[in-house]
Amino acid sequence: MFKNLKSKLIVLDGPDGCGKSSQRDLLAQFLTEHKVKFSCFRDPGSTVTGEKIRDILLHSDNHISDRAELLLYMASRAQLWDECIAPAIKKKHCVLLDRWVSSTCAYQGFAGGVGIQKVIDIAEHSLERVWPDLTIILDVDLKTAKQRMNRSLDRMEQKAAAYHRKVRAGFLKLAEMRRDIVLVDATKDIQTVHKQVIQTISSFFKIKSK
Ligand code: TMP
Repeated sequence: MFKNLKSKLIVLDGPDGCGKSSQRDLLAQFLTEHKVKFSCFRDPGSTVTGEKIRDILLHSDNHISDRAELLLYMASRAQLWDECIAPAIKKKHCVLLDRWVSSTCAYQGFAGGVGIQKVIDIAEHSLERVWPDLTIILDVDLKTAKQRMNRSLDRMEQKAAAYHRKVRAGFLKLAEMRRDIVLVDATKDIQTVHKQVIQTISSFFKIKSK
């Protein structure tokens, strides 16, 4: 039933505090139960080099210029493609990604002021593939997101509320720009959001339920 997901790239993305990690875990569990062979990676990270870049990006002591920030995210992603994603696709796995270029568009492009189109241009020059088959944006307002982030915050999370408001607006803009970027209301409880994620995947890839 879910064999249409072979070699497909599916991204879960959204503002900090959108519940992405919980949804990623539930989706991974769902794919396992439905016998879909899949690989799951986080961006930035999942390779030795990528995890080092992630530490640089997220450590709150580091001062990083806007352009350097953008290029570091892109560098980690280029490594992730070569080391992990390309081999997984070769094995015909469904690839589940925790963030991708959509994040750079929303954070560095829209909130950071570089511009979404410029991010896309840089991605086209830097990456094997810019757009996944499907990107699901877990949309959440700032107030709900903040309530969920009851822990010490990293360098990106510590940015001002105005920045994070723009991040959300950037994701909403992306969803208007492309039909392969779909919004899911992530203010609801975990199981309701999970059902909507599965529904979105099923209808996008035309998977019929039994
Ligand atoms: P994570 O904690 O969801 O893995 O994401 C790490 C942080 O990096 C999060 O605050 C979002 C931010 N980020 C960007 O600013 N640009 C990007 O391109 C990516 C992938 C993440």
